[in-house]
Amino acid sequence: MASTKLFLPFFYGCFLLSFFSYICIHASPLNHQISHPGFRPTKLFVFGDSYADTGNLRKSLGNSWNQPYGTTFPGKPAGRFSDGRILTDFIAKFLEVKSPLAYEWMEMGGKKLKNGLNFAYGGSGVFNTLGDLLPNMSTQIGFLDKLMQNSVYTKSDLNSSVVLVCLSGNDYGAFLAQGGKTMQDLQEFIPSVVNQLGANLKRVQQLGATKAVAYHNLLLQQTVAKLNNDSQTSTFFIIDLYASFTTVLNQNPDYQGKLRFETPLKPCCIGMNGYFCGGVDQKGEKMYRVCSDPKSAFFWDSSHPTEAGWHAIYTTFKSSLQQAFKFY
Ligand SMILES: *[C@@H]1O[C@H](CO)[C@@H](O)[C@H](O)[C@H]1NC(C)=O
Ligand SMILES: *[C@@H]1O[C@H](CO)[C@@H](O)[C@H](O)[C@H]1NC(C)=O
Ligand SMILES: *[C@@H]1O[C@H](CO)[C@@H](O)[C@H](O)[C@H]1NC(C)=O
Repeated sequence: MASTKLFLPFFYGCFLLSFFSYICIHASPLNHQISHPGFRPTKLFVFGDSYADTGNLRKSLGNSWNQPYGTTFPGKPAGRFSDGRILTDFIAKFLEVKSPLAYEWMEMGGKKLKNGLNFAYGGSGVFNTLGDLLPNMSTQIGFLDKLMQNSVYTKSDLNSSVVLVCLSGNDYGAFLAQGGKTMQDLQEFIPSVVNQLGANLKRVQQLGATKAVAYHNLLLQQTVAKLNNDSQTSTFFIIDLYASFTTVLNQNPDYQGKLRFETPLKPCCIGMNGYFCGGVDQKGEKMYRVCSDPKSAFFWDSSHPTEAGWHAIYTTFKSSLQQAFKFY
């Protein structure tokens, strides 16, 4: 019997690899670049899925709260879908702010709220992916809206913040999981996801955000160009998720001829007998195997990078982020 917990994003593993083969978008230098001398971000607000979630998804829904998640950082399972730091943590480090607290834990926040908040939930999408179990991105943005109405954060806080919006592929996975869908149907569904993500970015701008990083794909280009044009103080920037994954996987071996990740598609943590990484059977026996050195693996589990994997991904876009946000 498989684990009773859902493994989120349960769709993404098989999806990621097949997705590369039918969407091919090339980087173009259309991202808006203006200098804002004097701008120093003080907070980071995060929306999205398991690539950005640092502890919102309930323990009953995700293996991210089970051993061996979190072994590299923070040293025990704490809700990240990795052995250690993930995208959110690397973006926070770049901005020189502390990685924000997960929204679900804000009661314990106190002073930590000054770093912003992380509203991302593993498994979520712009649309509902699991009925009402997970807040979609509109609902996540609604949480921030509510906090602003209650004066926990102000428009001027948002003006001195960076917003990270991360959408991997749960909408597409949920769409295919309905069954009977062809690749043609999927192609036709993609624009509605991109439009909704664009609408979400616009809402974030209306709340007062002037700096945003969207991690999805370059189909957002037009929307983002328009948002940047609408408000000349805006720098919204897109990172092409699929390109950054392919770059890392293709740069293997790296330029020094050294293998960066020995077997890049083989996860470090592999479930057994139908269980996922982190699964235990009814007797409490571990139903997974973990590699000896997570640093040597790109994937941690079947759909999420290791900390080393995320670091490699971060290095693919760090310099363009520096160019877009010229405050460094
Ligand atoms: C987000 O979720 C809420 C609550 O389930 C729902 O009413 C709303 O339509 C959803 N938004 C989108 C864009 O799917
Ligand atoms: C936002 O911050 C910039 C400086 O970075 C300032 O010029 C602008 O007036 C601020 N806008 C609001 C609405 O606070
Ligand atoms: C940019 O904004 C100006 C008004 O501020 C408008 O006249 C122009 O058409 C816009 N350009 C685009 C490409 O949206």
